[in-house]
Amino acid sequence: MKAPNSIPEVLDVASIRNQFPILNRRVKEKPLVYLDNAATSQKPQSVIDAISDYYTNYNANIHRGIHTLAEEATLAYEATRHAAQEFIGAASPEEIIFTRGTTEGINLVAYTWGRQHIIPGDEILISAMEHHSNIVPWQILCEEKDAVLKIIPVNDHGELSMEAYMELLNERTKLVSIVQVSNALGTVNPVKEMINAAHKAGARVLVDGAQSAVHLDIDVQDLDCDFFAFSAHKVYGPTGIGVLYGKKELLDSMPVFQGGGEMIKEVTFEKTTYNDLPYKYEAGTPNIADTIAFKTALDFVKETGKAAIREHENNLLDYATAQLQQIPGLRIIGEAKEKVSLVSFVIKDIHPQDIGIILDNMGIAVRTGHHCTQPLMKRFGIPGTVRASFALYNTREEIDILINGLQKAIKMLS
Ligand code: ALA
Repeated sequence: MKAPNSIPEVLDVASIRNQFPILNRRVKEKPLVYLDNAATSQKPQSVIDAISDYYTNYNANIHRGIHTLAEEATLAYEATRHAAQEFIGAASPEEIIFTRGTTEGINLVAYTWGRQHIIPGDEILISAMEHHSNIVPWQILCEEKDAVLKIIPVNDHGELSMEAYMELLNERTKLVSIVQVSNALGTVNPVKEMINAAHKAGARVLVDGAQSAVHLDIDVQDLDCDFFAFSAHKVYGPTGIGVLYGKKELLDSMPVFQGGGEMIKEVTFEKTTYNDLPYKYEAGTPNIADTIAFKTALDFVKETGKAAIREHENNLLDYATAQLQQIPGLRIIGEAKEKVSLVSFVIKDIHPQDIGIILDNMGIAVRTGHHCTQPLMKRFGIPGTVRASFALYNTREEIDILINGLQKAIKMLS
């Protein structure tokens, strides 16, 4: 691990921070220290402006109108699809389905592909570190279809047991649905290797990219995943918009998700024919403003440079880990070799929520609780953790403030 004072600055963090107006606000009369980026990242002014620009200058419904505003809105909306395609390395824009977010993307696959393919006795493999969003849709499907949900175990470091995974894969495995980066532990899972093994066993693979898309370079063609879901709001974009990537041949052959406008070619009372990809899965007027602003967020990440962002975040992770390890009684939950910039921890038998409340009084925003991963918390025998998650605008000084705040909280609560 690098010594704290040897960490180089790879990003111009001061100028990046200037682009995020919320970082100037005060909370409880203290400067905001925002360390809850895994829940949602803050938005640069350019993203906020893009939303307002749409409503101010070209608010119109898309795909349907021939007037100028409708055309401008449609072009901007479709430009985001192209940017998202490039962002994750998809082969074509038809493979990019806009959703409300990762949860809806996973549910879409469960309700369409799942209902089409899963039969009694089939097995669906997930891991012990899944977010509830990647557990519950499969539980519902398994109950309905009399299929079996199998769980890949996690070791004490918070890594998946690849040995157990290989043993669990068999000819009954129809789907592996796996998180690329754990929201509660920060673990980066070896999804490429897992996808390869799943395909050899004849199973399809969905990758939950909710936490990975902002940190890692994503290339769905190189990964060869069948589905990949992520959300804009964790990538400096707006809430309420996400992407489901699916291989074209799969999306083409799957049944529709929701019925309504936009997803049809022709409707008669006798029969409806469905639209081509990607519109087949996009019923109803979508979240136009936020989708348009999502491109601005993707442009922001591209211009800043993912490699530089990752290096900065890794430096923050190393620094924070080294500092946290100095605190007596603090136990880090999730010590995988491959991690993103997120640290979960417990301190003695102090309830994480009590720590969170005290930190909030110092202007420090962290997340506390089970992080929508109750089975994982049970695996570690804890009610929850305190989680500090870092983004490209965070600094070592903010980590120092966190450490100082934790020391004060421990004194108050011991
Ligand atoms: N899934 C998000 C988190 O981990 C909300 O905080």
